[in-house]
Parts: sequence; structure tokens; C-alpha cells
Amino acid sequence: MRKKIVAGNWKMNKTIEEALALVSEVANMVKDEVSTDVQVVVAPPALYLSTLQKYTEAVPNLGVSAQNCHQKASGAYTGEVSAAMLKSIAVEYVILGHSERRQYFGETNEQLAEKVNIALENGLTPIFCCGESLEQRNGGNFLEFVSSQLTESLFHLSPEDFAKVVIAYEPIWAIGTGLTASSEQAQEMHAHLRKHLAAKYGQEAADNTSILYGGSCNEKNAPELFACPDVDGGLIGGASLKSREFVNIAKSF
Ligand code: G3P
Repeated sequence: MRKKIVAGNWKMNKTIEEALALVSEVANMVKDEVSTDVQVVVAPPALYLSTLQKYTEAVPNLGVSAQNCHQKASGAYTGEVSAAMLKSIAVEYVILGHSERRQYFGETNEQLAEKVNIALENGLTPIFCCGESLEQRNGGNFLEFVSSQLTESLFHLSPEDFAKVVIAYEPIWAIGTGLTASSEQAQEMHAHLRKHLAAKYGQEAADNTSILYGGSCNEKNAPELFACPDVDGGLIGGASLKSREFVNIAKSF
């Protein structure tokens, strides 16, 4: 049975005081209101991961995620964070391949394959992001483009390692725009990706893979999106910065 997951990607937001206030509100609400069969994750800036864990470790279905890690084990990469560093502070998840990292930092599918490898080597659960641009959607080849992102960054993995990966489909044209994919559009892509995974790793492995939707997901549209048979939760940006709305999304299954 695949996991239901709602992860909040805080991106580059919140001072430490604001972050502590947000995570303590989320922790209290998740403890009191969210079913334990839903895994909730917060992804603050790396600077805050250790500090915020004091709040999340007390709630069984609340975890922390990094927003990225470097593909090398260690070395002269000023400003970067390694998978081993995340492991050393007991971080559980790491978002990889977010479209903003691909766009602003030139991350390639090949680099992301290396990032996935080193994250798995360090016991982290990758939340692997994929998604098409508006041009690709309008051009019609969006299904093939997004499945190629999985092929090029994940399909080198053994079945055992692949089973540890969470997928997040985030159409770039829906991120931060308020233009959410319709439930039909989300379901079409999620079903396509699950079929693509089944062709590589078998139907059981595909059925056990959590595929999250991200891109202007909020408390109003989450119920319809999460009701789709192949949508297993969400990767939430702006709405995750508001504790009440973020937890309402986590309650939307
Ligand atoms: O990683 C999630 C994020 O890209 C979605 O952002 O603000 O459209 O929910 P937002």
C-alpha cells in the first residue's frame, strides 16, 4: 500500500522566529487532527533543520525534509549541503530536482541521478520532482517529456532502491501561479507516470510508489486532487507557509 504524503516546501522563506512559530503550530495541529496514515513533512531552509526537529520528532507522522543536497560526498563546494550532513542530523527526506533548481542552478537529469544515488546511500528518502513547462504542455509532448525525466534520473536504480523514492509531479506552469492543474490533467500525468514505472519495475512496484502533485495546491482544490486514484498527496509551496491551510490540505484525503 503506497503512502499518503503531504510535504510543505517552504523554499527561501521565514526567519528563525517565524519558522519556530510555524512548525510548532503545524506539529500541534498534526498531532491533534491528522490521521496517522498520512505522512506530513516540512521542508524548511537547511539552516533550520536541526532546530525544527525538536518539534517534529514528538509527532509520529511529521517529518523533516531538506530542499536539496549536493551530488558529491564532500569537498570544496562553498555553500552546499551534503547528504551525509543531512544524515548526521537525522533528516529523513530530501527534495531533489525541483524545477527552480533546474531553472536557476542548471541541474540536469544526469546530476540528479547522482543526487538520488548519494541521498539513498545516506538513508534519505528522495522526493524527486518532475514536470513540464507551459511550452511543452502546449506543444503536446508533455507526457513523454516528464516520463523521460524519470527514465534519465531514476531508471538506473535497482528495484530495491527505487522502492524508496517518492515522486512529485509539479507542472512548472502551475508553480506559484495560482493556475492549478485540473484534476483531469493531474490524473492523466500521474497515471502515465505510474504506467511508465510499471513498464520498468513491474506493476506492484508502480502501485507502491507515492506520486505527489505540486503546483498551486491549496485547501480548496486539494480534496478534488487527492481524490484522483493516482494522486497520493501533495508537494505544497505557498500554502505550506500558513499552518492552518497546510494542515487542512493534509486532512483532504
Ligand atoms: O515544491 C512545491 C512548490 O513548487 C509548489 O509551489 O506555491 O505553487 O504551491 P506552490
